[in-house]
Amino acid sequence: MDYFEYRDGQLHAEQLPLQALAERFGTPLYVYSRATLERHYRAFDEALAGIDHAICYAVKANSNLAVLQTLARLGAGFDIVSGGELQRVLRAGGQAHKVVFSGIGKTPEEMRLALQAGIHCFNVESAYELELLNEVAGAMSLRAPIALRVNPDVDAKTHPYISTGLKNNKFGVDIATAEELYARAATLPGLKIVGVASHIGSQLLDVTPLLDALDRMLALVDRLAQRGIVLQHIDVGGGIGVRYRDEQTLAPSEWAAAIKPRLAGRKLQLHTEPGRAIAGNAGVLVTRVLGLKGSEFKRFAVVDAAMNDLIRPTLYQAWMNIVPVVPRGEDCDTQVYDVVGPVCESGDWLGKDRTLAIEAGDLLAVRTAGAYGFTMASNYNTRGRAAEVMVDGDQAHLVRARESFEDMVRNEHLLP
Ligand code: LLP
Repeated sequence: MDYFEYRDGQLHAEQLPLQALAERFGTPLYVYSRATLERHYRAFDEALAGIDHAICYAVKANSNLAVLQTLARLGAGFDIVSGGELQRVLRAGGQAHKVVFSGIGKTPEEMRLALQAGIHCFNVESAYELELLNEVAGAMSLRAPIALRVNPDVDAKTHPYISTGLKNNKFGVDIATAEELYARAATLPGLKIVGVASHIGSQLLDVTPLLDALDRMLALVDRLAQRGIVLQHIDVGGGIGVRYRDEQTLAPSEWAAAIKPRLAGRKLQLHTEPGRAIAGNAGVLVTRVLGLKGSEFKRFAVVDAAMNDLIRPTLYQAWMNIVPVVPRGEDCDTQVYDVVGPVCESGDWLGKDRTLAIEAGDLLAVRTAGAYGFTMASNYNTRGRAAEVMVDGDQAHLVRARESFEDMVRNEHLLP
C-alpha cells in the first residue's frame, strides 16, 4: 500500500497534489512519500517480530540521503555495495554496526573504509576476496567480520538480468564449495566468521525459491556446526517483488510466516536486504508531455523524462504504470501512444501502447519508480538528472536539486 492517491480529480502524494509539486519544482521530478517508506519498513519489522532480526535496506534501490535518513531513524540497517554507499549511509545518520557489505568487486580501499567504520559484516563473494580481506584487515590489526555469500543454485524465476542465484551467475560462491572456504576462513587471523548470506534475485513473486535457498543454507549451517564453525546470523537477501501492473505479490507477512518456522529453535539472527519492496511504491516520476506526434498508424507522446531518468523500461522491457496526474474529462480524445523521451535512441521509451486521454502540456506520473529509478539515472545526452522531492504529510522537501549544466561539467577540463 502506498500514499499516492487520486483526490479531487488529481493524483496526490500524501496531502499534496503532484501538479502543484511539478509547478514548484519543475519536471521531470521524482516524488517520494515518507509515510510510504515508513509503512513498508514497518511491514517487514512487524512481520519479523518475535525473532531476532535485522532489516538491512538495500541502498542501491534508492540512495537519496533523505530516504536513508528516514529509514535510519526507524532503526534500519543497510546493505551496501560500495564505499560510496557506505559514506551515504553514514552521512544520513545510519549506524555502521548495522551495515552489511555485499558485492563481488570490493577494492582494498573500500575494505579499509568499511573496517574503519566498523561495519557489521562483509558478505564475501569469492576465495580471492577472502584472502584479500584477510590481508587488508591484518594490516590494520583488525579482524573483519564475514559471511560467505553462497550461490544456492535455485531458479528465482525472474528476469535473467536480475536473477542472481543460479550456478552460471557471477555472484557468490558455489554452495558446494562453501564449506571448504569456511574452513579456510577459520584459519585466517584477519577474519572472524559471523554468518552466511545469499541473494537469489530481484522482483520475486513466489516464496518457494527463497525457501529452497534458505533450506540449503540451513543445511550448510548444520554441516559447519559439526566442524566447530558456529554462525551467528543467516542473511536471506532481498528480492521481494512489488506490483507494477497486476502481479500477485508476496506480502512481507506471508514471506515472514514461511521463514519463521524454519528458524525456530536456532540461535541465528535473521538478516534481510529488501530494496524494491521498501522504496518501489514509495516514489513516482512526474513528467510533462512536450507534444503529441505521429500518424493514425503510430502515435507518440513525447515527454520530458527519458531513459536517462528511468532506464528500467529500456533495460528490462519493464512495464511501468503511466497515469495522468490530472485526468481529463470524456471530451478529450483517447488514443494509444508510445510514451517516449527526448533521447536519441529508439530504445528511449517509458511505455508502449498506452491508452491515454492527454494533450500537450499535461503531466503524467510513472508509478512505482521509487526503486531503481533515480539511482540508475545518468547524464546521457547531457541531460541533467531530475530533482527529487520528499513529501511528508503536507510538506514537500527538495531532497536533491535538479542538476544544472555547471554540475554536469564540473569535473571536466579543456586542454591547455
Ligand atoms: N541484496 C543484494 C546482494 C542485491 O544484489 C540486491 C539487488 C538486493 C539485496 C535488493 O534486492 P531487491 O529487494 O531490491 O529486489 N535494477 C534492477 C534490480 C537490480 C537488483 C540488484 N540487486 C531493476 O530495476 O529491476
